[in-house]
Amino acid sequence: MIFPHPVFAALVLYGVATVQAAPSLLSRQSITTLSNSQIDAFTPYTWFASTGYCQASDTLTWSCGANCNANPGFIPQASGGNGDSTQFWFVGYAPSLGEVIVSHQGTDTSEILPLIEDADIVMSNLDPTLFPGISSSIEVHSGFKAAQANTATAVLAAVESAMAAHQATKVTMVGHSLGAAIALLDSVYLPLHLPSTTTFKTVGYGLPRVGNQEFANYVDGASGHLTHINNKEDVIPILPGEFLGFVHPSGEVHIEDSNAWDNCPGQDNPSDLCSTGDVPNIFEGNTSDHDGPYNGITMGC
Ligand SMILES: *[C@@H]1O[C@H](CO)[C@@H](O)[C@H](O)[C@H]1NC(C)=O
Repeated sequence: MIFPHPVFAALVLYGVATVQAAPSLLSRQSITTLSNSQIDAFTPYTWFASTGYCQASDTLTWSCGANCNANPGFIPQASGGNGDSTQFWFVGYAPSLGEVIVSHQGTDTSEILPLIEDADIVMSNLDPTLFPGISSSIEVHSGFKAAQANTATAVLAAVESAMAAHQATKVTMVGHSLGAAIALLDSVYLPLHLPSTTTFKTVGYGLPRVGNQEFANYVDGASGHLTHINNKEDVIPILPGEFLGFVHPSGEVHIEDSNAWDNCPGQDNPSDLCSTGDVPNIFEGNTSDHDGPYNGITMGC
């Protein structure tokens, strides 16, 4: 796989240098393997992340195949986006989980690579109107920031309505690829506006790096409770490169070539059982791994 763009060439060169130069204690922390029941517990969220691709309409009917209707009993609250300038999104209530679900449409590899590498790669502060009180030391990818800002207030209003309609106190944010990046920013945004009694959870698939060290630390210390699941040699989770100042928050689960799911403690765990260590540069990556399968589920319509 060849990426002729000069930023990618730089990513490769600096990425290799960074990984080789950085000794870390993380690789010596214990990496544990999930049980089958722990893996299966993610399945409803995997379907919901995939459902983010389904074309939502005003009537909240989705028409693109089995993935869209895989969680029986789901009660849609609101949806939006156009699948083009604004990713599709939906909010609803899952009675089987007792949770309000927020899902954002993802992207396939060919769509997200230009977004990651273009001018939006420059980091900037979060908007203090959307993120009141957030530290100015926290910086995020400008393209992901803009994508989240596009839908933020509509998503918040829908979550508030769904919580009220179902007396719900749990909110779970999901997404794949760009959708995972938006969900991660929602996991910082929504707790700033919802009651402190709310329980939050975030499940991202093929999550790219979203922000700087201060952002990763904030996510680790905040209430969003992130799990980000990376499939095999997917190249997206190692981008943008660490040399540009991007850092993953903790909470990685890495699907191995053996199909074992391993917990990778810490931020950007350099063990070769984890994405950052397993895929030291884009040439070690495989773009086909980005869409899954994640425990048998391939993302998309
Ligand atoms: C890339 O991943 C796909 C899907 O998992 C697999 O079929 C293919 O063999 C992989 N390619 C390489 C070069 O490993």
